[in-house]
Amino acid sequence: MALLDELLRALWTDQAAIAPQAARVHQLLRDRGEAVRIDHIAMRTFDVPGVDIDALDRAFVAEGYDAAQTYELPRRKLIAYHYEHRDDPGRPKLLFSALLVDELSREAQAIVRGLVDQLEPGAAAHPSFAVSGRSWQLSSSDLMTLRAESEDAAWVAAFGFRAGHFSIDASGLCGFDGLAGLNRFLVESGYGVDQAGGEVKGSPAELLEQSATVAELVDVELADRSVRMPSCPCEFARRYPQADGTLFQGFLPLALSSCP
Ligand code: NI
Repeated sequence: MALLDELLRALWTDQAAIAPQAARVHQLLRDRGEAVRIDHIAMRTFDVPGVDIDALDRAFVAEGYDAAQTYELPRRKLIAYHYEHRDDPGRPKLLFSALLVDELSREAQAIVRGLVDQLEPGAAAHPSFAVSGRSWQLSSSDLMTLRAESEDAAWVAAFGFRAGHFSIDASGLCGFDGLAGLNRFLVESGYGVDQAGGEVKGSPAELLEQSATVAELVDVELADRSVRMPSCPCEFARRYPQADGTLFQGFLPLALSSCP
């Protein structure tokens, strides 16, 4: 498990670098005596052979993760899979999503394929591919073209392969009155709470509630200039027990469709 620990640590170190807000929120909670446990880590890619979910999941599958469930998010042109660790349920779940590039305009498809073509041959075979970041040149005009069509395409183009967000297990937080109380605390502490799809997405009846901060804007250096882009939010997931008493481990397609 040494490699898995290393990979998960690398994902978090990278996340804290591109989304310092997430690291500050984790610290804010720890300072209140809360245990910060990760429910899931989201990772994004293009559904292009060589860099698709099969490429992104390889190192994690080798370290004990199995695909558990698939989700289709047609509005965002995404397919997603959640993975669970087969021996250690205490490990964070992984949520991989891939943008269905074939469903973009011809122009956007050409831009995406042009980015993927810049990767070194065999780059995806490296054990730390999922945390390799962006290793292609991208112009601001190509980024704008992608952004006009798909925020998901623009995010992967701008940030490359790395975690899109870490989601904290809100069931393990004890000092708040549910996610609504946690959101009030975040707002009082100066953080915006994402309102897309409702401040709290999901419900106890659906066995999962989620909320997230508004992703902070960061400068991304492109080939011709730097642009301000939303990086990653800090997310929270609160799970409820199923009829058999075990906690629901899946995701809600409707909540995922507005998930940052
Ligand atoms: Ni999430």
